[in-house]
Amino acid sequence: MKDHSALDLQAMSVLRMNDRGKYTVPTESLYPHQWNWDSAFAAIGLSTFDIERSWTELVTLVKGQWECGMIPHILFYRKGDDYFPGPGIWGSGTAIPSSGLTQPPVATTAARRIWSMNRRVGEDRMRSLYPKLKAWHAWFMKWRLDRGAVCATHPWESGRDNAPDWDDAMERVDPADTSIYERHDTKCVDPDMRPTKRDYDRYLSLVNLGREAGWDQRYLLDTNPFRVADPALTFILLRANKDLAAIGRELGEDVTEVEAWTDVLERGAETLWNPEIESYDSRDALSGAWSGCVSSASFLCWYAGLQSEGMEEHFRRISDSVTYSVPSHDPDSEKFDPLRYWRGPVWPVVNSLIGIGLAETGHDTEAVTVLESTTELIERGGFHEYYNPHDGSPAGGGSFTWTAAIWLAWASPNTGASTWA
Ligand code: DGY
Repeated sequence: MKDHSALDLQAMSVLRMNDRGKYTVPTESLYPHQWNWDSAFAAIGLSTFDIERSWTELVTLVKGQWECGMIPHILFYRKGDDYFPGPGIWGSGTAIPSSGLTQPPVATTAARRIWSMNRRVGEDRMRSLYPKLKAWHAWFMKWRLDRGAVCATHPWESGRDNAPDWDDAMERVDPADTSIYERHDTKCVDPDMRPTKRDYDRYLSLVNLGREAGWDQRYLLDTNPFRVADPALTFILLRANKDLAAIGRELGEDVTEVEAWTDVLERGAETLWNPEIESYDSRDALSGAWSGCVSSASFLCWYAGLQSEGMEEHFRRISDSVTYSVPSHDPDSEKFDPLRYWRGPVWPVVNSLIGIGLAETGHDTEAVTVLESTTELIERGGFHEYYNPHDGSPAGGGSFTWTAAIWLAWASPNTGASTWA
């Protein structure tokens, strides 16, 4: 077993190394700009040793908010052709160049967490962030719902880029002209650990569609061939919305509207229960078809405050079949791949949300399983992006911000907390 204090120091140095002053990059080379949910985790991690800097992370993220309320998934504060697709391909037309999609709204939960650590220092920042976070939630409620569940309009919006959840819906997407682009990610990471070229052709085609539509949400609602209701987006927004209401109440705001959104999202979460596999699952909002996937996103139900005996059974089955929990995709599925990004590897950052949800809903044994798996993976492999659930080998990017952040804020026996509420 490693010395945990040494790991705490290493985690801090990963965050400092990836710190670009007002925001933190997920990792050098592979993701050299500001990413939305990565920054939310960075802020939570930073708050364990530098509360001022953690607020700056969120303030910088929200500065990129579009007029419609959307907070983009990538903000290009810096010029450079070191990422594909860069600002020219997204064509956001905004003062801070950005992507045209969002990502799971962990930032609201991060803001509540950081504020709870020091009320006085955070008061002004929280007051100015609250209406902006509320506008972002309102944007989700207006443009991303299907029967109350939250849809991804691009696999990148879900944060789980190449999850098997999207395979069938992606069949509808015409691939982009591949002669006009060159990937950057496969120069940084083993291509066997990344989405395939087939996936990228379609990712790019959806970006082209959005750019050509000027990111007009009304138009895209009618024309985008990809729209899938996602358990991760739904559960994370549901949790974030409860956190937003708690923040609002403490600020003395009228939270009637925010509370009404929680009711809608709770009903929406029920529409993601697939009785055929007795699991929360992704649902194609255009065809109505289930994806048929038990994924790590399905296990975020507890993070949203829901109870589910069916998911407890899946948790036992899956955690018994791997050495390290929680694989991003069901190992019993033929689509499982232990190294390819969101098709099987364990993501410590998702483990933190699952573990917190389990602890908060009284699943102490399962919470310990997730925590111990994460601690051991990090002790053995350092702060990587993801890990093989069978042998624990590290994969994807190294010196990864959100893995270091959740170490400090959750997994470390010295600085971690079992809940962020
Ligand atoms: C990437 O570039 O792989 C990102 O996940 C897109 O956000």
